[in-house]
Amino acid sequence: MNTILYPPPALRQPGHIEPCVDMLGRPLTDLRISVIDQCNFRCTYCMPAELYPSDYPFLPSSERLSFAQIETMARAFVRLGVDKIRITGGEPLLRKNLEQLIEALARLTTPDGRAVSIALTTNGSLLAAKARSLKNAGLDRVTVSLDSLDNGIFQRMNGVDFPVDKVLHGIEVAQAVGLNPVKVNMVVQKGVNDSQIVPLARHFRHTGVVLRLIEFMDVGGIGAWSRTHVVTSEAARALIAAEFPLVSLGEGKPLLHETASRYRYLDGGGEVGFISSVSQPFCGDCSRVRVSSDGKLFTCLFAQDGLDLRPQLDSAQGLESLLRRHWQRRGDRYSEVRGALAQASGRKQYRTVRMSLVGG
Ligand code: GTP
Ligand code: 5AD
Ligand code: SF4
Ligand code: SF4
Repeated sequence: MNTILYPPPALRQPGHIEPCVDMLGRPLTDLRISVIDQCNFRCTYCMPAELYPSDYPFLPSSERLSFAQIETMARAFVRLGVDKIRITGGEPLLRKNLEQLIEALARLTTPDGRAVSIALTTNGSLLAAKARSLKNAGLDRVTVSLDSLDNGIFQRMNGVDFPVDKVLHGIEVAQAVGLNPVKVNMVVQKGVNDSQIVPLARHFRHTGVVLRLIEFMDVGGIGAWSRTHVVTSEAARALIAAEFPLVSLGEGKPLLHETASRYRYLDGGGEVGFISSVSQPFCGDCSRVRVSSDGKLFTCLFAQDGLDLRPQLDSAQGLESLLRRHWQRRGDRYSEVRGALAQASGRKQYRTVRMSLVGG
């Protein structure tokens, strides 16, 4: 684990708040808020159509956190050390008037006066229409999930025949309005879309878009995961590097509190990342907390249950100390533990929360 140094008391600024660290010494810096559990895609690895039919009982809007509740919660997290907020779903752009929430979150500042960065993860289907208003509301950047450049593969994977051109157009519009750096997340599954690794890398080189290749994880409620479907980052990197030589930006490991091992193309073609939560877990400095659209707090992506925050969200009183106590008790490091367990069986080890409820 990386050592985290804090300023000694004599050097602390007025307004300094004790850093909130968990049982493994990890600070809390990154808040991921799912604003809706619905999605207009039915990706086979996340919300397969047979398990999520059109009458699936998603949360009624009355059970979702309101924007005021989310703002109260985010304010308390920022006082505890959060300086990066990511809005997720389901598909977050399906939430009505999302710009109003972004405006409120973009006004938050850290105790030492820095702006809080606001990012959003989307499937890109509505991005071309919304990029400008999101930027105007104060959104800093977007990450678009895109698993294939080939339209046939993309349509099969998204489960609703959504055409890839529209997502590519959304990415271009996001770049044009300044939601940069735009990142593209590709979840790689062996035999499904691994043929698309090099085409996607080629497509986004020299564009300023940062492609990230993600190892398929045993996450979410779907039991069909098997290690045999995983393409390791090492293998994906070798495929890309054979055509476009790469240079590591961090000794082959993620930088502090990040998920991706970052590389640059030797010829100046830009950056590409690899997210290796199966083959090289990065729990050691994981500083991420997640809140589901119905207000439950999850201290690990692979948690089974969350702490219901709703009773605390109508006033800020008591909320900050509750969150602090909860984080201080945290000892999650699922991906590392799983490494040991799954080596033996290669199968998903236990039930986890529905991915579309808690965000990725
Ligand atoms: P940046 O701020 O742009 O670096 O984003 P990020 O990598 O923190 O978030 P993003 O939503 O783009 O996540 C990329 C991939 O990493 C997704 O597949 C996530 O499910 C996965 N991921 C994100 N956070 C975690 C985590 O804490 N644990 C594990 N195991 N996977 C994670
Ligand atoms: N493994 C890895 N990544 C996943 N995502 C969704 N399900 C999985 C999985 N099983 C990704 C989405 C999105 C991000 C938020 O999480 O593609 O990019
Ligand atoms: Fe929707 Fe993202 Fe899940 Fe696909 S991976 S179904 S786009 S939430
Ligand atoms: Fe963090 Fe849990 Fe992911 Fe490990 S598995 S990096 S503890 S969210």
